[in-house]
Amino acid sequence: MKSSPLYVGLMSGTSLDGVDGVLTGFDGRLYAAYIPFPESLRDALLVLQQSGHDEIHREAIAANTLTTLYADCVQQLLAQAGISAAEVRAIGAHGQTIRHNPAQGYTRQIQQPALLAELTGIDVVADFRSRDIAAGGQGAPLVPAFHQAVFGSTSTTRVVANIGGICNISVLHSDGRVLGYDTGPGNVLMDLWAARHLGLPYDRNGDWAASGRVDPALLSGLMSEPYFAQPSPKSTGRDLFNAPWLERQLAAFAGRAPVDVQATLMAFTARSLAEAIQRDAGETEAVYVCGGGAMNGCLMKQLATELAVPVHSTDALGISPQHVEAIAFAWLAARFCDRLPGNLPAVTGAKGPRILGALYPA
Ligand SMILES: Nc1ncnc2c1ncn2[C@@H]1O[C@H](COP(=O)(O)OP(=O)(O)OP(=O)(O)O)[C@@H](O)[C@H]1O
Ligand SMILES: [Mg+2]
Repeated sequence: MKSSPLYVGLMSGTSLDGVDGVLTGFDGRLYAAYIPFPESLRDALLVLQQSGHDEIHREAIAANTLTTLYADCVQQLLAQAGISAAEVRAIGAHGQTIRHNPAQGYTRQIQQPALLAELTGIDVVADFRSRDIAAGGQGAPLVPAFHQAVFGSTSTTRVVANIGGICNISVLHSDGRVLGYDTGPGNVLMDLWAARHLGLPYDRNGDWAASGRVDPALLSGLMSEPYFAQPSPKSTGRDLFNAPWLERQLAAFAGRAPVDVQATLMAFTARSLAEAIQRDAGETEAVYVCGGGAMNGCLMKQLATELAVPVHSTDALGISPQHVEAIAFAWLAARFCDRLPGNLPAVTGAKGPRILGALYPA
């Protein structure tokens, strides 16, 4: 039996930008790699978010392609660390969400864990969300347990906000209680609009948004989405916050300048997150942001204005915002290997703590 405490975490999220990978021993050793998705894979994954012709075949092909990128990412990590596959205890691979429907008892994170085990020669732990859903939970968010383990404080309430495609918060109380849920859109709507009007994958630093004017009527229309008033546990994804949703919101605002729509989408992203934090963690003295949204300086500034408390990136707590989610899946793989629960029932709504994941041995 392998005794090495090194793990790989592989995360590719709703933004469909690429694979974030880490190799870590949770002891200061940390190697990181990022592989952007080729446009063809991004397009294929985007189309799979809705039902369509021959989707079982298309899903399998996209899963295989994604898995070869996961394997490339693992090879880069091993090369950086100068170690062999045998020294890694397991890979925690999230897979790519193409549907998330806990109300109907399922979620789908596609990948080919068998192929990943074959290509890397390392044990692969996959499908982290299904067991929590089987136990009546949302299957998401799963990162609050990790946030609590590494960012929790015994003297003050901390809020960690992961601004990926979707945004989720972890409210870490000093007495150990944790609350967490998906607050709504992270970068997903701003990315969609930047792709459409700038031909770019995202609005760098939010500069384009910052050059426009917020439309108050559009902003209040966006904020009236019923998801925000739903009590937690709750989780969401591209199943809700997608292009058709945005089209419906914009229907009464034809003729608005694209730059003003982008300004409003950024304000909306900041406000929907800030309102969640004010409602459920009004006492917090600081908010720590991880995920790609931490790179959006204008969004970070807007969030601090909305909240009137300091907003930092998780760098302030010792972990780069780009690595947090991938480390979380390495951590969840470690929990699986030690047969320890990975979910927090208070967060997901599951009937109890559960060991998350399925093993594909090397
Ligand atoms: N320099 C930047 N300026 C503005 N936005 C940025 C910048 N760098 C990254 N981003 C945003 O971050 C996004 C990627 O973030 P991330 O990888 O955390 O999201 P994700 O893959 O959806 O993860 P999650 O699983 O947490 O949803 C990009 O799509 C983009 O919107
Ligand atoms: Mg990403």
